[in-house]
Amino acid sequence: MRANARFLWKPLLETPVGQQQDTQLVDLLEDGNAPPEEELNRNQLHNDLEILLDELSSRESTVIQTTFWLRRRHSSIADSNQRSNAPFSRTGTSDCNPCSIETAATTTSLQGSGLHLTSRFISNCRNSMPKVPSIQIGIPADKRQAIANGLGRVLADTYVLYGKTHGFHWNVTGPMFNTLHLMFMEQYTELWNALDEIAERIRALGFPAPFGGDSLGQLASIKEAKQNPAALDMVRELVSGHEEVARTAREVFKLAEEANDQPTADLLTQRLQIHEKTAWMLRSLLEV
Ligand SMILES: [Fe+2]
Repeated sequence: MRANARFLWKPLLETPVGQQQDTQLVDLLEDGNAPPEEELNRNQLHNDLEILLDELSSRESTVIQTTFWLRRRHSSIADSNQRSNAPFSRTGTSDCNPCSIETAATTTSLQGSGLHLTSRFISNCRNSMPKVPSIQIGIPADKRQAIANGLGRVLADTYVLYGKTHGFHWNVTGPMFNTLHLMFMEQYTELWNALDEIAERIRALGFPAPFGGDSLGQLASIKEAKQNPAALDMVRELVSGHEEVARTAREVFKLAEEANDQPTADLLTQRLQIHEKTAWMLRSLLEV
């Protein structure tokens, strides 16, 4: 039976794998001490495959599944939880097993053969992954990193200023309510949209964009509003906030200019224009 299975699926087992394509799939499988029961053996294969695919990144997992015609029936987080609640309780058929993997060829060919995936298989699969090309945009990595860090501070300042402006929009009171309520709405909407532009520039430079209130709060030079100020104090606080972001943006602009990073310089120029104009408009409200 095992010999027949190997014969029928010989072409698959001889699939070249590895970076040099000098290894066959069959070489990466070891003939372990498979239990005699065919069902148990098949479940063991499913188990190994599930573990393998869980260990890989989502991208790696997709490539492996595509390459070897694997189809996971359940791959969401919820399904992972389901698996962890009932780990590998595979006493039924593969059709009703919640975590089974169907393979167009491998399951059938390997079931009953006593073959198990080895760590070498996992390692070779990883090595055969297409590599992500490095970023080559004419700006050295250290300069990209410095600019991304700087943009992270601009992002954080913008985020805190956004939150403050939105909060003031909600809580402003007094005779200027309507003017300030509407003005703050326009301003927080602009700041909200800017967050995306800044964060995506950080990503384009090859670095993760900071996120989350705690992280951004620590990075920001602007402090959160601790209480609800009077209407004109809100305006004063926002003037100061816009000027603070402008100072941060101006510092990062120098880095972008030195690194010949025109997109960042352009983005920061736009941000400087907005913040300085908004500060002027708010400051005008305070002039008698
Ligand atoms: Fe509103």
